[in-house]
Amino acid sequence: MKWNSKLYDSNQHFVSQYGESLLEFLPDNTEQSILDLGCGTGDLTAQIFEQYPNTIGIDSSLEMIERAQSKYPKIKFLNISAYEMDFFDKFDVVFSNAVFHWILDQNKLHYNIYNSLHKNGILICEFGANKNIDKIFNAYNKSIKKYNQKINISFYFPEIINHKKLLEQHGFKIKEIYDFDRPTVLPNGRLGLREWVLQFFSSDINKYNSIIKEDILQNMETILRNELFKQENWVADYRRIRVIAKK
Ligand code: BEZ
Repeated sequence: MKWNSKLYDSNQHFVSQYGESLLEFLPDNTEQSILDLGCGTGDLTAQIFEQYPNTIGIDSSLEMIERAQSKYPKIKFLNISAYEMDFFDKFDVVFSNAVFHWILDQNKLHYNIYNSLHKNGILICEFGANKNIDKIFNAYNKSIKKYNQKINISFYFPEIINHKKLLEQHGFKIKEIYDFDRPTVLPNGRLGLREWVLQFFSSDINKYNSIIKEDILQNMETILRNELFKQENWVADYRRIRVIAKK
């Protein structure tokens, strides 16, 4: 997926804001080394860096990394993906917010994270749980049906039991794992749902011309209005899984 970093900062800033609650799981020792995996435009990395000066961020998108680096020149940012990273015994903490659901090879991801951690290092992460954005995804599916195209979007939204198994297979000891509903108010009032779909389902919706796109978006808004449009804002049906696990 191609990310537009400026649009991301102006429209999807809420992603890092919601991630702030994950910071409370960081260790007391501020000397510890921290990797922010999938740091995007660096806002959460910068918050971590304020307290933990041995923090770096990585992201697979060059555009995101360039923007992060220009906003926060004191922090080290690297343009590498979770698949490519080959750190060995380097970090006390791997931290990641709203990223794992984009990564389809979870074995490779967890293999690389495990290797990158020191002994007793911890993984702190949050991402989409089972049934995350179910209503939005179903409305999209319904709305594209008449165009007879195969959908080109996949996410990893696991059940706790399956994700627990995966972590254990990779040698992690689980300290906490739980999931929860986290209804998420989308920015920009009436435009919120369509802007979200255009950004996050871009790999699929961009194959349609502008007339069809408009039809899909309007159809989705009609399907979802009763359930997800509250007090002039769209509220996405996010569900989160949170993991604290030790090497
Ligand atoms: C999420 O943060 O849960 C998410 C965002 C975009 C697409 C799918 C899931």
